[in-house]
Amino acid sequence: MSLLRSALLKGAENQWLASTLPRLAFARRAVRRFMPGEQLEDALAECAGLARTGVGTVITRLGENITTLPEAEQVCAHYQAAITDIARGALPTHLSVKLTQLGLDLSSDHATACLQRIARASAEIDAPVWIDMEGSRYTDVTIDVFRRTRQQCQNVGICLQAYLQRTGRDLADLLTQTTAVRLVKGAYKEPAGIAMQSKSAVDENYLACATRLLEAVKQRTVTYVPAFATHDVTLIRRIIDRAHQLGIARESYEFQMLYGIRVTEQQKLAAEGFRLRVLISYGSAWFAWYMRRLAERPANVWFVVKSMAAS
Ligand code: FDA
Repeated sequence: MSLLRSALLKGAENQWLASTLPRLAFARRAVRRFMPGEQLEDALAECAGLARTGVGTVITRLGENITTLPEAEQVCAHYQAAITDIARGALPTHLSVKLTQLGLDLSSDHATACLQRIARASAEIDAPVWIDMEGSRYTDVTIDVFRRTRQQCQNVGICLQAYLQRTGRDLADLLTQTTAVRLVKGAYKEPAGIAMQSKSAVDENYLACATRLLEAVKQRTVTYVPAFATHDVTLIRRIIDRAHQLGIARESYEFQMLYGIRVTEQQKLAAEGFRLRVLISYGSAWFAWYMRRLAERPANVWFVVKSMAAS
């Protein structure tokens, strides 16, 4: 892991930066590259625009590690209202939620109950709710909440991180029942003992897990098509080749990318007839999330510097 990446991921946890940076105009300008705006309406307007081009979306309200249960209730109510707006606009839009934004640090039962309320509302519009995967101290509890919710609601999916050594085993366990998985590389600072540190190791594990998910499509053990969330074009082409070798149709899996990243590649995949879904974030609590986006591509720091110079 490069020093700059490591420093940016450490900075993501810094409380002083978290309260100071979002107030600065240049930072607010820079963040616009990755989010259309802070309001739900900004995200939904973008969802409607992408829907017109045949591209699906996932929305997520930024925020994590809330510290009171009333905040969790407020987030839960917000997402239920968002589902009403999605239904009103007949949008092909899913939700993605962080369990620590639903109060996981305070009570896993409460977070599970909130998630189930959101999932039931989302079932009304026949859309899955995705559970984000956070830092490794939450992996076990996130899988547990996912399993408990799945007993009540079929329309819930979980994110797994290819950089974790354990993920192959977690995936195998989950696939003993029908499941829905979004596969990512992983965005947090994790120690070498539990997480692969080199890009090549993470990419190989990603491909191995993707292959397992494609095989699950054949065995009909998925409740929603596998979602391969990555901007890595080489890896995407390797997954497409693997699907082709396994005789899996392109409608039977999906790629997901973040709003504002590799837009030309997004358009190319959609034009080639692959299923594509863009994840759009909104909300004012963007600091930690934005630092992780900078860490993924430290060259992004130059955009921040340029925004600072322009102010
Ligand atoms: P990689 O990092 O190898 O990037 C490949 C190429 O994509 C780069 O060379 C660059 O060109 C471009 N790129 C990648 N990130 C960029 C950026 N920020 N800015 C500009 N260009 C960039 N993680 C997690 O731990 N838990 C989660 O729940 C999720 N959820 C999630 C949902 C979706 C839909 C996506 C796309 C990603 C996530 N992630 C995530 C983030 C994920 O773990 C990972 O950090 C990023 O996707 C970056 O990794 P790539 O797979 O794109 O590969």
